[in-house]
Amino acid sequence: MDNPQQNQKKWDSAAGAYDFSTAGGPEARWRPFKKTLFSKMAGKVLFLAVGTGLDIGCFPQGQDITGIDISPKMLEKARPRIDAYDGQMTVHQMDVHEMTFDDATFDQVFTSCTFCSVPDPVRGLSALRRVLKPGGSLNMFEHTGSHIFPFNVMLNVANPLMRRLGPEVNRNTVGNVQKAGFEITRVNNIFLDVVKTIEAVPAC
Ligand SMILES: C[S@@+](CC[C@H](N)C(=O)[O-])C[C@H]1O[C@@H](n2cnc3c(N)ncnc32)[C@H](O)[C@@H]1O
Repeated sequence: MDNPQQNQKKWDSAAGAYDFSTAGGPEARWRPFKKTLFSKMAGKVLFLAVGTGLDIGCFPQGQDITGIDISPKMLEKARPRIDAYDGQMTVHQMDVHEMTFDDATFDQVFTSCTFCSVPDPVRGLSALRRVLKPGGSLNMFEHTGSHIFPFNVMLNVANPLMRRLGPEVNRNTVGNVQKAGFEITRVNNIFLDVVKTIEAVPAC
């Protein structure tokens, strides 16, 4: 598992080419699904992780959004998109495992292609649970491992290389959300069982 310094360094290194490698293909394809998920934003929202800000174009106008990302280089690239957002958006360079927000600060948490990347996903998700208000919700757009042959084998084989460059591609994120003390309210598979939205609330 990457330590926080290694993790930050990896994503700082990825920042320069991130838009080139992502914006044209996958991002264009997933935009409508992200827009649908993000249209549920309401109240005080925590957004993880901002990256270069590609998600910001999918946010509904007029929201009160706090964004975090571990990588200062990613946030530097995101700055023009943050400034252009038609609503209130503040960002912090922060590791999800070590967030400094008070307990029960946010009405909703949104994540986007992030729990493939956070080194200790169950600890990161538990930290998100801590900062959610009672009655709050977790809303995720994520890619995960697969149960479908041969995609499960392909993702397992690709994972050691992929995790060196950036994300892990074979995680059981739905299981990790449950392990972190959430109750799943909805899973919507978008591409096979690999790309999906996950909605959850803190378990009683
Ligand atoms: C695959 S990128 C996704 C960025 C953006 N949401 C998008 O879809 O374009 C993963 C992001 O997670 C951030 N990240 C990784 N580990 C993190 C952590 N522990 N805390 C906060 N952000 C983290 C990385 O810096 C990177 O910007």
